[in-house]
Amino acid sequence: MNTTDPRDRAAATSSPPRRVEFYRHSLTEADIDAAAAVLRSVFLTTGPRAATFEKEFASFLGVQHVVTTSSCTSALFLSLAALGLGPDDEVITTPMTFVATANAILHTGAKVRFVDVEPDTGNIDVDRVAEAINPDTRVVLPVHLYGLMADVEGLADLCRQRSLILIEDAAHAAEARRDGIRPGQRGQAACFSFYATKNLTCGEGGAVATDDPAMADALRRLRSHGLSKEAANRYTERYHHWDMLELGYKANLSDIQAALLLGQLPRLEAQRQRRDALARQYEEAFAELPDVCFPVVPRGADSARHLFTIWVPPARRDRTLAELQERGIGIAVNYRAVHLLTYYQRQLGLPRGSFPNAERIGDSTLTLPLYPSMTDDEQQQVIDTVRAVVATWAPSRNVVAFSGAAG
Ligand SMILES: Cc1ncc(COP(=O)(O)O)c(C=O)c1O
Repeated sequence: MNTTDPRDRAAATSSPPRRVEFYRHSLTEADIDAAAAVLRSVFLTTGPRAATFEKEFASFLGVQHVVTTSSCTSALFLSLAALGLGPDDEVITTPMTFVATANAILHTGAKVRFVDVEPDTGNIDVDRVAEAINPDTRVVLPVHLYGLMADVEGLADLCRQRSLILIEDAAHAAEARRDGIRPGQRGQAACFSFYATKNLTCGEGGAVATDDPAMADALRRLRSHGLSKEAANRYTERYHHWDMLELGYKANLSDIQAALLLGQLPRLEAQRQRRDALARQYEEAFAELPDVCFPVVPRGADSARHLFTIWVPPARRDRTLAELQERGIGIAVNYRAVHLLTYYQRQLGLPRGSFPNAERIGDSTLTLPLYPSMTDDEQQQVIDTVRAVVATWAPSRNVVAFSGAAG
């Protein structure tokens, strides 16, 4: 390269832009040592570490019982299975979620009834739930999208009036509060995910929180083949014959994973506060950008701030996604509306237009990097890159932004 031109020299010496990862976990050496200690012990599967985590997570949430599971998907499925749902039953849920929510319903044999979401939060709309209730409805299953709790008070009132059961998908919302209420405090059960990118993670894992001791007992049996004794009891006590009481599943969490989770509990709130500060900085930075909106966090809600999404005009979304990735920014899409995915199209055949708010969010959304170890410099790089890409958008009359917080 001819380096006589100063611009060429600058180009030759400057390094390519750093990549900003979509997510980096915050596991510490102490967490890893705790897992290693389990590996050096005799007992690896669900045992004392899982029991301690269940107790401590229950106390963190302010609920009576936590039952750990292999994933949030299994937590949702087992919660519904514990209610004895079957083909005559229907569960009302949101199409603005990860497929796990709806899949867990279908695996019980029950029917999924989607209803639309609020346009400004993406959470299930309580009025639409009320309209959709019919004689087959047994359960209402909201998702606390991105970490903002759905209107659980409204949903709990509705469920009480109509004799329905409320199960919360709290995969995004371990640290969330709304009007002082936490996941699991109004619902019959709340289901959590400890998947690789979640705020509280052990790679793969989940849990159900409930105040109902009978439900907790049923979940412990169902996660372990329906056996009368789990492995820990079989190990710590002298051998006694165990029995199989019902047809269960295999969906327990190991002590190795529980050890990773335990050490994270004391720092969850500090990490949430860091994500909250980052999310507010994003909101401030994008407030002036035309055609860019983001979901609202209503007064009285402390969002767990699991994901930070922006909503761009649908005609721009995929190109913006590609450009941000090309410029080194880790991006995801949470979520495209579930009823439009091929399998659900085949099963339910719900045409476009069925749930306009969920569809609009699904066509517009981009998730930006957000995690406690993200530095201010990394965030600035994301902000600058989003601004630079938005600046390349040609003016167009048929791209319409929609309601959400201002941009
Ligand atoms: C809203 C929601 N529900 C359920 C799940 C399923 O969680 P898991 O991967 O732990 O089964 C996820 C996972 O990303 C999710 O985002």
